[in-house]
Amino acid sequence: MSGDRKLELSADEMRALGYRVVDMIVEHAAALPDARVAQSASRAEMEARLREPAPAEGRGWNSVLDRVSAEVLRPMTHNSHPRFFAYVPGPGNFVGAMADALVSGFNPFAGAWAMSPGAAQVELVTLSWLREACGLPATAGGLFVSGGSMANLTALAAARHHLLGEDFSRAVIYTSDQTHSSVQRAARVLGFRADQLRLLPADDGFRLDPARVQAEMDRDKAAGRIPFCVVATAGTTSTGAVDPMGVLAEICRAHGAWLHVDGAYGAAAALTAEGRAALPGLGEADSVSLDAHKWLFQPFECGCLLVRDATLLRDAFRLVPAYLRDTDLSEEEVNFRDWGVQLTRGFRALKLWMTVQVFGMDAVRDAIVWGMRLAEAAERELRARPGWEIVTPAHLGIVTFRWRPAEMEDAEVDEEQRRITAALAADGYALLSTTELRGRTVLRLCTINPRTGEAEIAETVRRLDAIARGPG
Ligand SMILES: Cc1ncc(COP(=O)(O)O)c(C=O)c1O
Repeated sequence: MSGDRKLELSADEMRALGYRVVDMIVEHAAALPDARVAQSASRAEMEARLREPAPAEGRGWNSVLDRVSAEVLRPMTHNSHPRFFAYVPGPGNFVGAMADALVSGFNPFAGAWAMSPGAAQVELVTLSWLREACGLPATAGGLFVSGGSMANLTALAAARHHLLGEDFSRAVIYTSDQTHSSVQRAARVLGFRADQLRLLPADDGFRLDPARVQAEMDRDKAAGRIPFCVVATAGTTSTGAVDPMGVLAEICRAHGAWLHVDGAYGAAAALTAEGRAALPGLGEADSVSLDAHKWLFQPFECGCLLVRDATLLRDAFRLVPAYLRDTDLSEEEVNFRDWGVQLTRGFRALKLWMTVQVFGMDAVRDAIVWGMRLAEAAERELRARPGWEIVTPAHLGIVTFRWRPAEMEDAEVDEEQRRITAALAADGYALLSTTELRGRTVLRLCTINPRTGEAEIAETVRRLDAIARGPG
């Protein structure tokens, strides 16, 4: 049946397979709220289930799908589960998933205008929605990439090309100790030495301290080094803190440095009035990372980078070899291969564009605001129970807190947070994660899934409380 040299199925089989895949996705989504958040498996178990030589003969798609369902997709942590509050959730939506299916089926080459002008135009339009939300000028442009890590890397590469050219041995990047590790990795990948990245201690609110940045820059300049770039965060992963982007932009301008804002998690909030108020100065950045696979509810991978002067992105990446000259048409007809690392690239914009077309931007905005309300609800629930300490109040959908029984040593309290996290994970109802703030382990809820209900927040806190008070 499927042992075809052309790797083809009949039209009827394609439909049947497609309908079954859709049924699997729909059933999964319907069952998710009642399912455990995580189902783990050891390497040994997975080896036993899946290790085999590549089958020489096809097995028929029905049995392959049975196996995918039972063995491949069963053991997983559901990032889009309404009670997945760990790390940064990935609350994708069905329209986005179907857009991905369409993209795979049609397989447009989104690296060149001539190959798929519809894809390029949708990408331009979708990016302009995000650009406006961030308050960036019309000169800004960018592209969709795999995620925040790639957006940060691409931004630093463009900044380096523009400001430093080929010799970047004396350049320094400034950021806080709360910055996502992808920035450190990007600097490493780009060839900056570890001593060229200053991870400055954050202030009391876990923000990058501009006075400190200024002092470091002055010191570096006096020592013959080049203050090159500040990476601010609009919504840190640990607490949702927002660095003072306006002041940092001024400092960067004064030093001829680039301000990159990592808004991978938080910048999407700029689509809402409340979020914009929480992100002052975002529009002054030279570049902004924003992940649609986080707070814009897209399936992985859907990150985006916006650069204030889009031509700088093009300058940094454009190369036109002889074999691509046919598709090098005009500046208007954008070839996204010129704007980033990838030549062959998928059509990532479609999922966000279709989501907004189907539900409307107002619904997306409401979904973002709901995430903020949920973190506030969690904070209220925790404050109402003795023994719980709020470490950072709800901000951009994140609240951090600690179970702090009286007369317990700090080290023991740290251990308690890990015990509680593990016990909740074992319970299976909800999942949260820990982080470290001022050297202490804290619990953290990130509540950006629009399908989470307030009752689920209340029940999660009730279970946390029961676990905390139970036998330790
Ligand atoms: C602030 C921030 N930046 C960057 C990243 C990395 O993004 P990605 O995992 O999409 O590469 C994350 C991920 O959580 C993040 O929270």
